[in-house]
Amino acid sequence: MTKAAKSQQELTVLGIETSCDETAAAVVRGRPGAVPTILSNVILSQVDEHRDYGGVVPEIAARAHIDHLDRIVREAMAGAGVAFEDLDGIAGTAGPGLIGGVIVGLMTAKSIAFCHKKPFLAVNHLAGHALSPRLTEDLPFPYLLLLVSGGHCQLLAVEGPEAYTRYGTTIDDAVGEAFDKTAKLLGLGYPGGPAVQRIAEQGNPDAIDLPRPLTGRPGCDFSFSGLKTAIARAADAVRAPSAQEAADIAASFQAAVCDVIEDRSGNAMEQFTQAHSTSDRTLVVAGGVAANTAIRERLNDLCARNGFRFVAPPLHLCTDNAAMIAWAGIERLALGHSDPFDVSPRARWPLAETAGN
Ligand code: KG4
Ligand code: ZN
Repeated sequence: MTKAAKSQQELTVLGIETSCDETAAAVVRGRPGAVPTILSNVILSQVDEHRDYGGVVPEIAARAHIDHLDRIVREAMAGAGVAFEDLDGIAGTAGPGLIGGVIVGLMTAKSIAFCHKKPFLAVNHLAGHALSPRLTEDLPFPYLLLLVSGGHCQLLAVEGPEAYTRYGTTIDDAVGEAFDKTAKLLGLGYPGGPAVQRIAEQGNPDAIDLPRPLTGRPGCDFSFSGLKTAIARAADAVRAPSAQEAADIAASFQAAVCDVIEDRSGNAMEQFTQAHSTSDRTLVVAGGVAANTAIRERLNDLCARNGFRFVAPPLHLCTDNAAMIAWAGIERLALGHSDPFDVSPRARWPLAETAGN
Protein backbone atom coordinates (compact mmCIF):
# COMPACT_ATOMS: atom_id res chain seq x y z
CA MET A 1 0.00 0.00 0.00
CA THR A 2 1.28 3.50 -0.79
CA LYS A 3 2.03 5.96 1.99
CA ALA A 4 -0.80 8.22 0.83
CA ALA A 5 -3.28 5.32 0.97
CA LYS A 6 -2.10 4.34 4.45
CA SER A 7 -2.55 7.88 5.79
CA GLN A 8 -6.20 7.91 4.62
CA GLN A 9 -7.01 4.52 6.09
CA GLU A 10 -8.33 4.02 9.64
CA LEU A 11 -5.71 2.25 11.73
CA THR A 12 -6.28 0.24 14.89
CA VAL A 13 -3.35 0.16 17.30
CA LEU A 14 -2.74 -1.34 20.75
CA GLY A 15 -0.65 0.94 22.98
CA ILE A 16 1.30 -0.12 26.08
CA GLU A 17 2.64 2.30 28.71
CA THR A 18 4.86 1.26 31.64
CA SER A 19 7.47 4.01 31.94
CA CYS A 20 6.53 5.15 35.45
CA ASP A 21 3.99 3.91 37.99
CA GLU A 22 0.97 3.36 35.72
CA THR A 23 0.49 -0.01 34.06
CA ALA A 24 -1.62 0.88 31.03
CA ALA A 25 -2.93 -0.56 27.78
CA ALA A 26 -5.36 0.95 25.27
CA VAL A 27 -6.74 0.40 21.79
CA VAL A 28 -7.30 3.42 19.54
CA ARG A 29 -8.77 3.51 16.04
CA GLY A 30 -8.37 6.44 13.69
CA ARG A 31 -6.26 8.36 11.24
CA PRO A 32 -4.41 11.68 11.41
CA GLY A 33 -6.60 14.62 10.48
CA ALA A 34 -9.70 13.31 12.25
CA VAL A 35 -10.53 12.83 15.93
CA PRO A 36 -9.99 9.09 16.60
CA THR A 37 -12.04 6.66 18.69
CA ILE A 38 -10.57 5.41 21.95
CA LEU A 39 -11.92 1.85 21.93
CA SER A 40 -10.49 1.07 25.36
CA ASN A 41 -8.18 2.78 27.85
CA VAL A 42 -7.19 0.68 30.88
CA ILE A 43 -4.98 2.16 33.59
CA LEU A 44 -3.80 0.50 36.76
CA SER A 45 -2.28 3.04 39.13
CA GLN A 46 0.36 1.78 41.55
CA VAL A 47 -0.04 4.77 43.88
CA ASP A 48 -0.86 2.53 46.87
CA GLU A 49 2.28 0.45 46.36
CA HIS A 50 4.52 3.54 46.48
CA ARG A 51 2.68 5.72 49.02
CA ASP A 52 4.69 4.53 52.07
CA TYR A 53 7.91 5.57 50.33
CA GLY A 54 6.70 9.08 49.41
CA GLY A 55 7.54 8.52 45.74
CA VAL A 56 7.90 5.92 43.01
CA VAL A 57 10.35 3.10 43.81
CA PRO A 58 11.69 1.88 40.43
CA GLU A 59 12.19 -1.77 41.44
CA ILE A 60 8.71 -2.05 42.95
CA ALA A 61 7.23 -0.39 39.85
CA ALA A 62 8.98 -2.80 37.46
CA ARG A 63 7.80 -5.85 39.42
CA ALA A 64 4.24 -4.55 39.56
CA HIS A 65 4.28 -4.02 35.77
CA ILE A 66 5.34 -7.67 35.33
CA ASP A 67 2.56 -8.84 37.67
CA HIS A 68 -0.25 -6.90 36.00
CA LEU A 69 0.57 -6.07 32.38
CA ASP A 70 -0.74 -9.30 30.76
CA ARG A 71 -4.11 -8.86 32.47
CA ILE A 72 -4.29 -5.15 31.59
CA VAL A 73 -3.57 -5.91 27.91
CA ARG A 74 -6.26 -8.63 27.92
CA GLU A 75 -8.73 -6.14 29.46
CA ALA A 76 -7.89 -3.49 26.86
CA MET A 77 -8.38 -5.95 23.99
CA ALA A 78 -11.63 -7.31 25.42
CA GLY A 79 -12.92 -3.80 26.17
CA ALA A 80 -12.19 -2.75 22.59
CA GLY A 81 -13.81 -5.90 21.22
CA VAL A 82 -10.93 -6.61 18.87
CA ALA A 83 -8.60 -9.57 18.35
CA PHE A 84 -4.83 -9.27 17.84
CA GLU A 85 -5.43 -10.16 14.18
CA ASP A 86 -7.55 -6.99 13.81
CA LEU A 87 -4.69 -4.70 14.85
CA ASP A 88 -2.62 -2.68 12.39
CA GLY A 89 0.24 -2.27 14.83
CA ILE A 90 1.44 -2.52 18.43
CA ALA A 91 3.00 0.53 20.08
CA GLY A 92 5.03 0.47 23.28
CA THR A 93 6.76 3.23 25.23
CA ALA A 94 10.50 2.85 24.60
CA GLY A 95 11.52 5.69 26.95
CA PRO A 96 12.28 8.00 28.57
CA GLY A 97 11.37 6.59 31.97
CA LEU A 98 12.30 4.15 34.71
CA ILE A 99 14.27 1.58 32.78
CA GLY A 100 12.92 -1.57 34.50
CA GLY A 101 9.35 -0.61 33.69
CA VAL A 102 10.18 0.48 30.15
CA ILE A 103 11.81 -2.93 29.50
CA VAL A 104 8.65 -4.77 30.67
CA GLY A 105 6.28 -2.80 28.43
CA LEU A 106 8.57 -2.69 25.41
CA MET A 107 9.29 -6.45 25.50
CA THR A 108 5.57 -7.16 25.80
CA ALA A 109 4.76 -4.90 22.82
CA LYS A 110 7.54 -6.48 20.74
CA SER A 111 6.42 -10.01 21.64
CA ILE A 112 2.79 -9.38 20.64
CA ALA A 113 3.91 -7.72 17.39
CA PHE A 114 6.33 -10.56 16.63
CA CYS A 115 3.84 -13.36 17.37
CA HIS A 116 1.06 -11.80 15.31
CA LYS A 117 3.35 -10.50 12.54
CA LYS A 118 2.26 -6.88 13.02
CA PRO A 119 4.26 -3.65 12.72
CA PHE A 120 5.94 -2.63 15.97
CA LEU A 121 6.19 1.03 17.04
CA ALA A 122 8.69 2.23 19.63
CA VAL A 123 7.07 5.39 21.00
CA ASN A 124 8.77 8.21 22.86
CA HIS A 125 6.67 8.81 26.01
CA LEU A 126 7.04 12.57 25.54
CA ALA A 127 5.75 12.28 21.97
CA GLY A 128 2.73 10.50 23.45
CA HIS A 129 2.04 13.51 25.70
CA ALA A 130 2.84 15.95 22.86
CA LEU A 131 0.38 14.33 20.44
CA SER A 132 -2.30 13.56 23.06
CA PRO A 133 -4.41 16.70 22.35
CA ARG A 134 -5.09 15.30 18.86
CA LEU A 135 -6.92 12.39 20.56
CA THR A 136 -9.81 14.70 21.37
CA GLU A 137 -9.31 17.88 19.27
CA ASP A 138 -9.11 18.60 15.58
CA LEU A 139 -5.76 20.30 16.11
CA PRO A 140 -3.48 20.90 13.10
CA PHE A 141 0.33 21.16 13.34
CA PRO A 142 2.16 23.25 14.38
CA TYR A 143 1.15 24.07 17.94
CA LEU A 144 2.94 25.15 21.08
CA LEU A 145 3.09 22.64 23.93
CA LEU A 146 3.76 23.10 27.61
CA LEU A 147 4.56 19.69 29.06
CA VAL A 148 4.45 19.72 32.85
CA SER A 149 4.69 16.44 34.77
CA GLY A 150 6.52 14.68 37.59
CA GLY A 151 9.53 14.11 35.38
CA HIS A 152 9.37 16.89 32.80
CA CYS A 153 8.92 20.61 32.35
CA GLN A 154 9.36 21.71 28.74
CA LEU A 155 8.09 24.12 26.12
CA LEU A 156 8.05 22.73 22.58
CA ALA A 157 6.79 23.53 19.13
CA VAL A 158 5.07 20.38 17.85
CA GLU A 159 5.49 20.58 14.08
CA GLY A 160 4.57 17.00 13.15
CA PRO A 161 4.42 13.48 14.63
CA GLU A 162 8.20 13.29 14.43
CA ALA A 163 9.15 16.97 14.33
CA TYR A 164 9.66 18.91 17.55
CA THR A 165 11.59 22.05 18.38
CA ARG A 166 12.41 22.44 22.04
CA TYR A 167 12.25 26.06 23.22
CA GLY A 168 13.14 25.40 26.82
CA THR A 169 13.36 22.80 29.56
CA THR A 170 14.07 22.67 33.26
CA ILE A 171 17.70 23.08 34.22
CA ASP A 172 17.12 21.23 37.52
CA ASP A 173 13.81 19.83 38.83
CA ALA A 174 10.50 19.17 37.12
CA VAL A 175 7.52 21.21 38.31
CA GLY A 176 5.63 18.10 39.48
CA GLU A 177 8.61 17.17 41.63
CA ALA A 178 8.42 20.62 43.26
CA PHE A 179 4.71 20.04 44.01
CA ASP A 180 5.49 16.59 45.44
CA LYS A 181 8.34 17.95 47.58
CA THR A 182 6.17 20.78 48.90
CA ALA A 183 3.45 18.26 49.81
CA LYS A 184 5.99 16.09 51.62
CA LEU A 185 7.29 19.07 53.63
CA LEU A 186 3.73 19.95 54.61
CA GLY A 187 2.94 16.33 55.54
CA LEU A 188 0.33 16.01 52.80
CA GLY A 189 1.39 12.62 51.45
CA TYR A 190 1.90 11.37 47.91
CA PRO A 191 1.16 12.23 45.13
CA GLY A 192 1.47 15.81 46.23
CA GLY A 193 0.10 17.96 43.41
CA PRO A 194 -3.63 17.49 44.02
CA ALA A 195 -3.17 17.86 47.82
CA VAL A 196 -1.18 21.10 47.47
CA GLN A 197 -3.81 22.50 45.11
CA ARG A 198 -6.61 21.56 47.52
CA ILE A 199 -5.17 23.32 50.58
CA ALA A 200 -3.85 26.26 48.52
CA GLU A 201 -7.48 27.22 47.89
CA GLN A 202 -7.77 28.17 51.60
CA GLY A 203 -4.44 30.02 51.75
CA ASN A 204 -3.08 33.51 51.11
CA PRO A 205 -0.83 33.51 47.99
CA ASP A 206 1.00 36.63 49.26
CA ALA A 207 1.74 35.22 52.73
CA ILE A 208 5.34 34.24 51.98
CA ASP A 209 7.82 35.98 49.74
CA LEU A 210 9.21 33.31 47.41
CA PRO A 211 11.65 33.50 44.47
CA ARG A 212 10.44 33.26 40.85
CA PRO A 213 13.56 31.71 39.25
CA LEU A 214 14.55 32.93 35.75
CA THR A 215 11.50 35.19 35.32
CA GLY A 216 12.13 38.43 33.44
CA ARG A 217 15.06 36.84 31.63
CA PRO A 218 15.10 35.90 27.95
CA GLY A 219 14.53 32.27 26.93
CA CYS A 220 12.13 29.54 27.96
CA ASP A 221 14.10 27.43 30.44
CA PHE A 222 12.73 26.66 33.90
CA SER A 223 14.35 26.26 37.31
CA PHE A 224 12.59 25.07 40.45
CA SER A 225 15.38 24.06 42.83
CA GLY A 226 15.63 27.56 44.39
CA LEU A 227 11.89 27.59 44.96
CA LYS A 228 12.05 24.14 46.54
CA THR A 229 14.78 25.29 48.93
CA ALA A 230 12.81 28.42 49.85
CA ILE A 231 9.74 26.28 50.62
CA ALA A 232 11.85 23.96 52.79
CA ARG A 233 13.08 27.02 54.72
CA ALA A 234 9.54 28.38 55.11
CA ALA A 235 8.23 25.02 56.34
CA ASP A 236 11.18 24.69 58.72
CA ALA A 237 10.58 28.14 60.18
CA VAL A 238 7.14 27.19 61.45
CA ARG A 239 8.07 23.58 62.45
CA ALA A 240 4.61 22.04 62.92
CA PRO A 241 2.50 24.34 60.71
CA SER A 242 -1.14 24.92 61.59
CA ALA A 243 -3.70 24.18 58.87
CA GLN A 244 -3.76 27.90 57.98
CA GLU A 245 0.04 28.19 57.88
CA ALA A 246 0.27 25.10 55.64
CA ALA A 247 -2.44 26.55 53.36
CA ASP A 248 -0.52 29.85 53.15
CA ILE A 249 2.72 28.07 52.22
CA ALA A 250 0.90 25.98 49.58
CA ALA A 251 -0.87 29.03 48.13
CA SER A 252 2.36 31.07 48.01
CA PHE A 253 4.17 28.18 46.33
CA GLN A 254 1.43 27.69 43.75
CA ALA A 255 1.37 31.42 42.97
CA ALA A 256 5.15 31.41 42.41
CA VAL A 257 4.85 28.40 40.08
CA CYS A 258 2.05 30.14 38.15
CA ASP A 259 4.21 33.28 37.76
CA VAL A 260 7.16 31.22 36.47
CA ILE A 261 5.00 29.27 34.02
CA GLU A 262 3.29 32.43 32.77
CA ASP A 263 6.60 34.24 32.21
CA ARG A 264 8.30 31.34 30.40
CA SER A 265 5.22 30.48 28.31
CA GLY A 266 4.91 34.13 27.28
CA ASN A 267 8.46 34.02 25.89
CA ALA A 268 7.70 30.75 24.09
CA MET A 269 4.64 32.33 22.46
CA GLU A 270 6.84 35.10 21.08
CA GLN A 271 9.32 32.56 19.75
CA PHE A 272 6.56 30.43 18.22
CA THR A 273 4.97 33.46 16.55
CA GLN A 274 8.30 34.47 15.01
CA ALA A 275 8.98 30.93 13.73
CA HIS A 276 5.52 30.07 12.38
CA SER A 277 3.42 32.26 10.12
CA THR A 278 0.20 30.37 10.99
CA SER A 279 -2.63 32.64 12.11
CA ASP A 280 -4.22 29.71 13.98
CA ARG A 281 -2.00 29.73 17.08
CA THR A 282 -2.64 27.26 19.88
CA LEU A 283 -1.03 26.52 23.25
CA VAL A 284 -1.62 23.04 24.63
CA VAL A 285 -0.87 22.07 28.20
CA ALA A 286 -0.19 18.36 28.90
CA GLY A 287 1.32 16.18 31.65
CA GLY A 288 0.02 15.47 35.15
CA VAL A 289 0.52 19.04 36.44
CA ALA A 290 -1.88 20.22 33.71
CA ALA A 291 -4.58 19.03 36.12
CA ASN A 292 -3.86 22.11 38.26
CA THR A 293 -6.73 24.57 37.90
CA ALA A 294 -4.74 27.64 39.02
CA ILE A 295 -2.15 26.95 36.33
CA ARG A 296 -4.88 26.37 33.74
CA GLU A 297 -6.58 29.67 34.60
CA ARG A 298 -3.28 31.54 34.33
CA LEU A 299 -2.52 29.98 30.94
CA ASN A 300 -6.03 30.69 29.72
CA ASP A 301 -5.58 34.42 30.50
CA LEU A 302 -2.12 34.48 28.93
CA CYS A 303 -3.51 32.92 25.73
CA ALA A 304 -6.36 35.42 25.58
CA ARG A 305 -3.87 38.30 25.85
CA ASN A 306 -1.58 36.89 23.14
CA GLY A 307 -4.13 35.70 20.57
CA PHE A 308 -3.56 31.98 21.23
CA ARG A 309 -6.25 29.36 21.53
CA PHE A 310 -5.87 27.39 24.78
CA VAL A 311 -6.33 23.63 24.74
CA ALA A 312 -6.15 21.41 27.81
CA PRO A 313 -6.93 17.74 27.12
CA PRO A 314 -9.34 15.97 29.51
CA LEU A 315 -7.56 15.13 32.76
CA HIS A 316 -7.48 11.36 32.26
CA LEU A 317 -5.57 11.93 29.01
CA CYS A 318 -3.23 14.52 30.61
CA THR A 319 -1.72 12.04 33.05
CA ASP A 320 0.12 8.91 31.94
CA ASN A 321 -2.05 6.62 29.83
CA ALA A 322 -1.70 4.17 26.94
CA ALA A 323 -4.24 5.81 24.60
CA MET A 324 -1.67 8.52 23.89
CA ILE A 325 0.93 5.83 23.10
CA ALA A 326 -1.45 4.02 20.74
CA TRP A 327 -2.27 7.34 19.04
CA ALA A 328 1.41 8.29 18.64
CA GLY A 329 1.79 4.84 17.04
CA ILE A 330 -1.06 5.56 14.62
CA GLU A 331 0.48 8.93 13.67
CA ARG A 332 3.79 7.22 12.83
CA LEU A 333 2.21 4.23 11.11
CA ALA A 334 0.23 6.61 8.89
CA LEU A 335 3.56 8.08 7.76
CA GLY A 336 4.59 4.57 6.71
CA HIS A 337 7.00 4.24 9.64
CA SER A 338 7.55 1.38 12.07
CA ASP A 339 10.51 0.11 14.10
CA PRO A 340 12.79 -2.93 14.06
CA PHE A 341 12.66 -5.40 16.96
CA ASP A 342 16.19 -4.51 18.09
CA VAL A 343 15.17 -1.03 19.32
CA SER A 344 16.56 -0.63 22.84
CA PRO A 345 14.65 0.76 25.84
CA ARG A 346 15.98 4.15 26.89
CA ALA A 347 16.01 5.81 30.31
CA ARG A 348 16.75 9.15 28.63
CA TRP A 349 15.42 10.12 25.22
CA PRO A 350 15.06 13.85 24.44
CA LEU A 351 12.09 14.50 22.19
CA ALA A 352 14.09 16.63 19.77
CA GLU A 353 16.04 13.45 18.89
CA THR A 354 12.86 11.63 17.79
CA ALA A 355 13.38 11.26 14.06
CA GLY A 356 11.60 9.42 11.30
CA ASN A 357 12.99 6.29 9.76
O1 KG4 B 1 2.22 13.04 33.86
P1 KG4 B 1 2.19 12.37 35.20
O2 KG4 B 1 0.96 11.57 35.56
O3 KG4 B 1 3.40 11.41 35.39
C1 KG4 B 1 4.70 11.74 34.99
O4 KG4 B 1 5.39 12.38 35.81
O5 KG4 B 1 5.07 11.39 33.84
O6 KG4 B 1 2.42 13.54 36.30
C2 KG4 B 1 2.46 13.29 37.68
C3 KG4 B 1 2.75 14.59 38.40
C4 KG4 B 1 2.99 14.41 39.91
O7 KG4 B 1 4.16 15.14 40.25
C5 KG4 B 1 1.75 15.02 40.54
O8 KG4 B 1 1.98 15.56 41.84
C6 KG4 B 1 1.40 16.11 39.55
O9 KG4 B 1 1.63 15.49 38.28
N1 KG4 B 1 0.01 16.56 39.67
C7 KG4 B 1 -0.34 17.83 40.00
C8 KG4 B 1 -1.77 17.85 40.08
N2 KG4 B 1 -2.22 16.60 39.77
C9 KG4 B 1 -1.12 15.83 39.52
N3 KG4 B 1 0.40 18.92 40.25
C10 KG4 B 1 -0.25 20.06 40.56
N4 KG4 B 1 -1.60 20.17 40.68
C11 KG4 B 1 -2.39 19.10 40.44
N5 KG4 B 1 -3.72 19.21 40.56
ZN1 ZN C 1 4.14 11.24 31.55
